[in-house]
Amino acid sequence: MKDTLEIKPNIIMLSSKDAERKTFDSIFPLKKGTTYNAYLIIGSEKTALIDTVDPSKKDELISRLKEMKVKVDYIISNHSEQDHSGSIPYILEMFPTAEVVASKIGKGFLTDLLGVDENKIIEVGDNDKISLGDKTLKFIMFPSAHWPETMMTYLEEDKILFTCDVFGSHYSFENPYFTEEVLEYEKEYYAEIMMPFRKTINFNLKKLDNLDINLICPSHGPIHKEPQRVINLYKKWTSDETDKEVTIVYASMHGSTKKTVDYIVEKLAEEKIKTNVVDVSNFNISNLFTNLVSPHTLIIATPTVLGGPHPAITLVAMMLKAYRPKVKQVLLVTLYEWGSNAEKFLKDTLKDFNLAGSWKISGKPDEEKLKILDILVKEIKKEMSKNDG
Ligand code: FEO
Repeated sequence: MKDTLEIKPNIIMLSSKDAERKTFDSIFPLKKGTTYNAYLIIGSEKTALIDTVDPSKKDELISRLKEMKVKVDYIISNHSEQDHSGSIPYILEMFPTAEVVASKIGKGFLTDLLGVDENKIIEVGDNDKISLGDKTLKFIMFPSAHWPETMMTYLEEDKILFTCDVFGSHYSFENPYFTEEVLEYEKEYYAEIMMPFRKTINFNLKKLDNLDINLICPSHGPIHKEPQRVINLYKKWTSDETDKEVTIVYASMHGSTKKTVDYIVEKLAEEKIKTNVVDVSNFNISNLFTNLVSPHTLIIATPTVLGGPHPAITLVAMMLKAYRPKVKQVLLVTLYEWGSNAEKFLKDTLKDFNLAGSWKISGKPDEEKLKILDILVKEIKKEMSKNDG
């Protein structure tokens, strides 16, 4: 059966591909579409469906369940966002006696967002269990990843952890198992969806330390056969540790800001400091968040437009305020010809960061003017060397 995979006896992945989807949350570009993975667990007495699929794919899920001639007793809702929960009302129509299992907050969300009858919802807390006969589901509350109601489900006998968004990737796959090719999508997913909640996620990851896990089954992207690899990556990404790298985010209209950024990149390269350059001109935020996961320093460079930063940089500043990447310092570079409030706007918006320096260049950035940025490079080198053994 297409996109139906028995990953272990009586444990079936029901994955709906959405290769054509171009953006997520109407903002994040998807290079390889996405998948919505539901999982069916057939126990000796009861059957559970773990999460569902985006409502646009509900017919696929329904026809697969019909083909398998199963009766679903429990619908486990690890996360109430509609790309996983949106088909629950249709599955409940198909199996009127089924009960939905969710966290306390999840129960409220499913009622509010989808109109699920609250009497159909079983509320569970940390370490609560439901027996399917020869299989046992244990629930692990994992809030703020990335909504407050999120939880994971652990299948004790088979040692499989169903994590919904956590450890997922927007990647429409042929191979249902993780390969190195997926790593950049996994990091991008973390950056765009999970990064704002990194401290809570880092704290909650401790809950997985004592679990014996053979497989991690997320609800987007491929399955992980090496659970510790992705758990360790999440531990690193969510920690306070940074890499000795500089990310430069800029927009340019006539090439002056680009020329300024090129100069900084060249000077940092001379100091053997790696740079990641993200051009957000035309509001292209592909690669923006991935490059904010672990850099030591962030430089924002902008021309002045209508007295403020370029609108794409204004958007970036607003998102940075919400995303709170763990950079140790932020440096500003503002270009202008006449009056500019760009620096003031950025300083006000980013006041929660360590704003360690700001440079302004008026008119054409010729060699002489660019030399003021040598100090910026020295400051970065000095700051990074503080962390050396
Ligand atoms: Fe994939 Fe937060 O939903």
